[in-house]
Amino acid sequence: MFACMSRIDALIRRMTLTEKLGQLTMSASTELVTGPVLAGDLAAEVGSGAVGNVLNVHGAERVRRLQRMAVEESRLGIPLLVGLDVIHGYRTLFPVGLAEASAFDVELWARSAREAAREASHAGIAMTFAPMLDVARDPRWGRSVEGPGEDPWVAARLAEAKVRGFQGEDLAAGESLAAVAKHYCAYGAVTAGREYASADLSERTLLEVHLPAFAAAVAAGVAAVMPAFIDLAGVPMTANAPLLRGRLRERLGFQGLLISDYNSIGELIQHGVAADLVEAAALALQAGIDVDMMAGAYRHGLPAALQRGLVSMTLIDEAVRRVLTLKERLGLFDDPYRRGRGAEAPASLAGRRELARRDAARCIVMLKNRNATLPLASTVQRLALVGPLADAPGQMRGSWWAAAEELEQVSVLAGLRAALPRAQLQHASGVAIEDEGTAGIVPALRACQDAEAIILCVGEGALMSGEAASRAHLDLPGQQRALSEAVFQQAGERGTPVIVVLFSGRPLAVPWLAERADALLAAWFPGSEAGHAIADLLTGRRSPTARTPVSWPRALGQVPIFYAQRPSGRPPVADTAYASRYLDVPNEPLYAFGHGLTYGQFVLSNLRVTPASASLADTIEVRVDVVNEGARAAEETVFLFIHDVLASVARPAMELKGWSRIELSPGERGTVCLPLPARELCFLGAQLEPVFEPGQIELLVGPSADRSQLLVERIRLIADA
Ligand code: BGC
Repeated sequence: MFACMSRIDALIRRMTLTEKLGQLTMSASTELVTGPVLAGDLAAEVGSGAVGNVLNVHGAERVRRLQRMAVEESRLGIPLLVGLDVIHGYRTLFPVGLAEASAFDVELWARSAREAAREASHAGIAMTFAPMLDVARDPRWGRSVEGPGEDPWVAARLAEAKVRGFQGEDLAAGESLAAVAKHYCAYGAVTAGREYASADLSERTLLEVHLPAFAAAVAAGVAAVMPAFIDLAGVPMTANAPLLRGRLRERLGFQGLLISDYNSIGELIQHGVAADLVEAAALALQAGIDVDMMAGAYRHGLPAALQRGLVSMTLIDEAVRRVLTLKERLGLFDDPYRRGRGAEAPASLAGRRELARRDAARCIVMLKNRNATLPLASTVQRLALVGPLADAPGQMRGSWWAAAEELEQVSVLAGLRAALPRAQLQHASGVAIEDEGTAGIVPALRACQDAEAIILCVGEGALMSGEAASRAHLDLPGQQRALSEAVFQQAGERGTPVIVVLFSGRPLAVPWLAERADALLAAWFPGSEAGHAIADLLTGRRSPTARTPVSWPRALGQVPIFYAQRPSGRPPVADTAYASRYLDVPNEPLYAFGHGLTYGQFVLSNLRVTPASASLADTIEVRVDVVNEGARAAEETVFLFIHDVLASVARPAMELKGWSRIELSPGERGTVCLPLPARELCFLGAQLEPVFEPGQIELLVGPSADRSQLLVERIRLIADA
């Protein structure tokens, strides 16, 4: 520790201002473009020490070449830090964030991050701009696809698992990546779901909903944090000293690196809080941002800011120390080439694809299965596969794909052909994802004519969600509704079941589709092994296990929609017009948070809670019996929600505090145990500080946040003696 500190101190003492600012700069190559501005000649700037960190360069050879320039040509030989958006995989893609959240499986979350880290580190990457932890309750916002869904408790568990997975036990190991928790904070709360818009919300919502995942990432030792592009009530996050220096560093104890988002320091000018790059750089540094990604503001602005007395050399040195410390922790000083050792063994890649297939099947939510339409009977011989997403390998990737080539992705068509080599498979896309042409509908109907079952693959294109992809409509784009209606109409006349596989980066408001489909799978974007995983579920090789981590609206007007709403003083149960409800649509979502079917049939009973009263230090044991009354083995997920019925501050009608899974054969019975530490029942009181209030707590246990399906018991909280 001391040796490493003195190495860093010695370096800082020798550095010129230009070299220091180089360490505070991250510049992109033009190989991959992830933002609106481009950088200059990377190689020359790395060699001169003017740029100390890069993004969007990958591949062992290319990284090595650049690293050599930093280490061998720059005056001080400080190694480069190479970052990339390894969001849900590098070459092998795992399901997108929202899909992974649907697995409700911390080991899956950690494992896919570990595998992505292995793969990316072989290509020279040392830092990933992940995990994305923004809770999103407004599906118009395109970046919902990257994150954990609507629930802060899920987001926090995901944060811990992802940090563990990416960083491993030892950050210096050649297969570990520095994780970057992003985008701090409340990015998901942008006005009307519009990308990059302002957010304005109460401090309570900030603390209760948007911060817990970041607190969990910090507690798990995350190496870096990236502030969001947006302003929060007028203060851009990139210049938000109270939330960066105050909340994150001082209150949460974060000692790692703060790295700006792409050009966001420069954008302080457009926000209207900085007159020029000099002021922008000064504001960001004062707020605590160590690394300037792509604005060139630190390099070009901080020298003048120093002269104007807006910042001090001490502040610059502190930031430089944090950059060098992370490079040290990553083992870059000891061996700058330990990542990027080249190709992995083919067996590792094959094993990873197998894992991606298993994970994808665990991330696809079966929303509906009328009359046990799925799995397909083994006797089915004639299948029709229609819709623009049926044979669209590139679309399976979702909105980030790093090094994943389009042709290495498995489409639904390819997956079904492999799974059912003897079946007659008629395929027609019918319409394009977004175009208005309808000429393909007739051929699609022809393909469906003699089928025993129709698989209709519809939804959004991969780039209709993600960054800069907000939508004001939550329905099927282009002429996909016309195609679907025509297919339903013909199938209805012939009695052919229609199985809809819906691809999207957000919950869509498609009640008509849900109503008409015999079975409905929310596939999100399942990644490289999409087609195989979907075929595994359709054929019953695997039973669905996933649950939706977001509420599905019936209509856009219900947005923002989430289960953890506070009770109204005039609840809709009252038999009066003066109640909190819509005139034209129920309050309830189409599919509740946590909803998801399996091939089993589970019944829960006998909810027990011990002890009957608990104080702060106790752990409450919640147990429930589960029986599989269905004809197939399957895995059930059981959720534990709480409701503080009487508190000094009105509490959400339900809050998630745990989940557990149980695998049962037909007729088998088991017990699920959900431990609940009583400290989880603390909440932020009127002064926004944690309080533990004596009184009644409802514990609600069941398969989703649909209250009508939950078993309820009460427990009494008591103050410590
Ligand atoms: C995105 C970040 C991403 C960065 C680097 C930005 O536009 O908001 O999520 O990590 O680009 O590619």
